[in-house]
Amino acid sequence: MRGRFITFEGPEGCGKSTQVRRLMARLAAEGLQVISAREPGGTPTGEIIRDILQNDLTKEAICPETEVLLFAASRAQIVRHRIEPALQAGTWVVCDRFMDSTTAYQGYGRGFDVERMIEINAFAVGKTVPDLTFLLDLDVDTSLTRMRARNAGRNQVQDRFEREERGFHARVRNGYLVMAQRWPERFRVIPGDRAEDAVAADIWRAVAALRGQAA
Ligand code: TYD
Repeated sequence: MRGRFITFEGPEGCGKSTQVRRLMARLAAEGLQVISAREPGGTPTGEIIRDILQNDLTKEAICPETEVLLFAASRAQIVRHRIEPALQAGTWVVCDRFMDSTTAYQGYGRGFDVERMIEINAFAVGKTVPDLTFLLDLDVDTSLTRMRARNAGRNQVQDRFEREERGFHARVRNGYLVMAQRWPERFRVIPGDRAEDAVAADIWRAVAALRGQAA
């Protein structure tokens, strides 16, 4: 039986990484084969693309068009080298960000044509579309507060997206909510401003329902 493909999306500080870890542990405890991946990255090529996009590897300003295509290139690579082979082998895949991040950040956030972002995503992923996408939703002020606290705690500098103005983050958040309405069969909106356990419980309920469905 084909594995299931679950993605996590949301604004900065929404708690995705924690929930990805918790879901992975729970699926493994149920005896399922499961792998996780993060975007951009997850393959040798993808990790270099990650360094270009997030760690200023080339020391060259990345133009917005290039940014879209680099995200798409990293995604095309991980889909064909890791995600699709795993799914075909019956392994579940949990991804921390996937194609909807491009629609939200480059489309709604940066202002590129949203339908064009969706087309580029479709080219990159082919038929490998998530079965379930959790949108961990958070209002912009909470998101920015959490992001700043996280960076201060780690003594970390902000990456290119974190440096964006408040309006950018507001557009990303609203874009995600529009997408969740557009594809309700796949999206589940989970309020992220709650205790970790409560968020995890909502996620597990939706995953249990997915498990119940025939492949
Ligand atoms: P990451 O370190 O994964 O941060 P987070 O914990 O917020 O997921 O950084 C990913 C950043 O890249 C994040 O700010 C969102 C952005 N991004 C895009 O703009 N477009 C994309 O297609 C993807 C995958 C990420």
